[in-house]
Amino acid sequence: MKLLSVASEIYPLIKTGGLADVVGALPAALAGHDVETRTLVPGYPSVLSKLGKAKAVRRYDGLFGASATVLAGKVGDLDLLVLDAPDYFAREGGPYGDHGGNDWGDNWRRFAALSRAGADIAAEGVKGWVPDIVHVHDWQAAMTAAYMRFGPAHAVPRVVTIHNLAFQGRFGPEIFAQLGLPAEAWGMDGVEYYGGTGFLKAGLVSADAITTVSPTYADEIRSPVHGMGLDGLINGRSDKLHGILNGVDTDIWNPAEDALIARRYSARGLGGRSANRRALEKRFGLQRDDAPIFVIISRLTWQKGMDLMMNAIDHLVGLGAKLAVLGSGDHALEGGFLAAADRHRGRVGVQIGYDEPLSHLLQAGGDAILIPSRFEPCGLTQLYGLRYGCVPVVARVGGLADTVIDANEAAVSAGVATGILFAGDDPLALHGAIARSVRLHGEPEAWQAMQRAGMRADFSWTHSAARYAALYRSLLGREAA
Ligand code: ADP
Ligand code: GLC
Repeated sequence: MKLLSVASEIYPLIKTGGLADVVGALPAALAGHDVETRTLVPGYPSVLSKLGKAKAVRRYDGLFGASATVLAGKVGDLDLLVLDAPDYFAREGGPYGDHGGNDWGDNWRRFAALSRAGADIAAEGVKGWVPDIVHVHDWQAAMTAAYMRFGPAHAVPRVVTIHNLAFQGRFGPEIFAQLGLPAEAWGMDGVEYYGGTGFLKAGLVSADAITTVSPTYADEIRSPVHGMGLDGLINGRSDKLHGILNGVDTDIWNPAEDALIARRYSARGLGGRSANRRALEKRFGLQRDDAPIFVIISRLTWQKGMDLMMNAIDHLVGLGAKLAVLGSGDHALEGGFLAAADRHRGRVGVQIGYDEPLSHLLQAGGDAILIPSRFEPCGLTQLYGLRYGCVPVVARVGGLADTVIDANEAAVSAGVATGILFAGDDPLALHGAIARSVRLHGEPEAWQAMQRAGMRADFSWTHSAARYAALYRSLLGREAA
């Protein structure tokens, strides 16, 4: 089966979060199910520079007014189609905005262009390669489904995956006329959304199947609390909604083989973690002692509960624990974390920025990873924590609730606990969870049992790739899902 995947990020070429990890890992995971994936991504500078030898397979004189070429090439095992459109993507800054964090004003055009190219490839293929099915990710690629539905590729099945409902790609009504869609596409059943244009919304109404990245988030987004205005629509299409948990790329995240950490180790030899702990203490200017080290690897945003976390730091330090933070995001939060590091020299270390190798060391050297999210479609850092023996301390929402087993009495005595769960969006619950972690860390046997149980749990792509493959086959009428 030939699959066209369309996304705005792909690890290791361009990444701002978990979306990239998932889009980068799926092709290899699906290959074992007879699914041959090609991924269409924007030609950002970081993508083009790593692409190496590539062939032009499609040319546009005017893709919404800009000249563009689709390049075909490989990076490692990834089979890529890259939309090289310098007017849209050859920019300094991030994939969605400038260095200052301001979104590009023409994002609608940039991602409509990506989606248009996706739909064209779905209709006509490239050099004889025609996809049987199209799978698109988040609002930046969602319009692919709309262009397909209202164009020549309407018979090709399309899957839209929601990685985060908070980002919907909403624009004014005036852009509709420039999207090149037929007039019938404007309306409740099309791209119109509360009087404006909704890219994700358009994708969701045009999809043959909607997936999201955990079963609990699939339930949550059917209610107004987490539905972000789309709960009504999602409920109306609930027969097409599937919650499929993200997996971990176990080649990249494996403490027994990880070249990015100070010392490799496995569940059998947890002692190997101490060299990583020392390296982490050094890197973050933390005092060398046996107190538990909590780590944070996160976008510093409201979604991630980082305001609550910032306010819990004095409590954490008061309990004798240490904290190492790697993150970037809201400037006020960045400043708040830096101020806490100043206040608690030697107990709290903060690095503002994005640093992939350092994120591995944090997982390998930290005792516990804190994730107090208000909502979390899946979350990957708790999965990496489980794999590295860095015990997840997480809010009971979305994919966090689906992947961590709380250390309650029953779970501890059965030896199946893997972490600590607490009520999200509640400062006292966060305080309580930190205190509970510190207490449990003081019982080495119980703590190590938790680490080992987490490290043994299987969160590879095996199960989830099989579910995606079954879904594709059911849409093609080949087998039931
Ligand atoms: P989200 O996609 O919502 O940000 P996820 O937990 O799904 O959350 O994925 C986050 C990904 O980004 C993980 O791979 C995590 O390790 C990585 N990450 C987040 N912040 C940083 C950072 N400052 N430096 C390095 N990696 C980071
Ligand atoms: C989004 C979500 C995160 C999820 C990731 C990959 O960024 O916020 O929870 O793990 O997408 O699906």
